[in-house]
Amino acid sequence: MFKIIPNKKNIGAEVVLNIKNLSKKNLSLVKKALNEYGMLYFKKQKINSKIYIKFAKKFGKIAKYPRLKGLSKKYPQITVVQRKITDKGPSFGEQFHTDSSYTKKPPRFTMLLAKLVPSRGFGNTEFSSQYLSYENLPRIYKKKIKNLKAVFSSSGPISITRLEREREKGTGKSKDFKAIHKVVKKINNRKVIYCSPGHVESFLKTSRKNEKKIKKFLFKHQINKKFIFALEWEKNSLAIWDNRSMLHQATPFNGNRIMHRITIK
Ligand SMILES: [Fe+2]
Repeated sequence: MFKIIPNKKNIGAEVVLNIKNLSKKNLSLVKKALNEYGMLYFKKQKINSKIYIKFAKKFGKIAKYPRLKGLSKKYPQITVVQRKITDKGPSFGEQFHTDSSYTKKPPRFTMLLAKLVPSRGFGNTEFSSQYLSYENLPRIYKKKIKNLKAVFSSSGPISITRLEREREKGTGKSKDFKAIHKVVKKINNRKVIYCSPGHVESFLKTSRKNEKKIKKFLFKHQINKKFIFALEWEKNSLAIWDNRSMLHQATPFNGNRIMHRITIK
């Protein structure tokens, strides 16, 4: 069985297949779909870490993520995103962002495999298509941000979730990272807005007043409901997304959840 079912307005797609039996031909169709729809999810993938890593490697080299602990000595490439029912405060990644945008070369793809989830409808991950976000930008703004560069920082607004975790675990404050990227990128011949509301601190060569104005407008525009798909997690669902064309965020929930995360260069 192999089927690609695009979501409404092509914001992500479900892929029906058993990833253990992925042919070369179907892999190239999956890659094409990932470019086109920005995110894909595969339900009912009861797989072990070895198969998960093998699947991840089909999309590129696995990246390191220093902020989370590795699953084990054998599988340091898999990091664990865990929330316990007793955890207070926001979940990891709660605010729209694109992963590690505060580094020079952010990971191209991120994958999550749901190992333990609370009841359905809790703790969705929302994805916002930045293809649609750019396409729907008023012409005047397309012009305004054409050559705009932004400073992305790991101590941006989203860091509150990380600081919270660090405080709880007593691991102390980790190093801050900063990077500069162009706000408009061309991905697969389509333009996207590459601006992470959770990380963007400032714009280069922009007055304070203008910066405030652009930020306010862009951050709101980028996460317009019309561009969003919410993934309802089920145990053994696997998702992969392109960090350049999609913003994502965790939504609040209380319960026990364990995700296995892999990022790809
Ligand atoms: Fe994230």
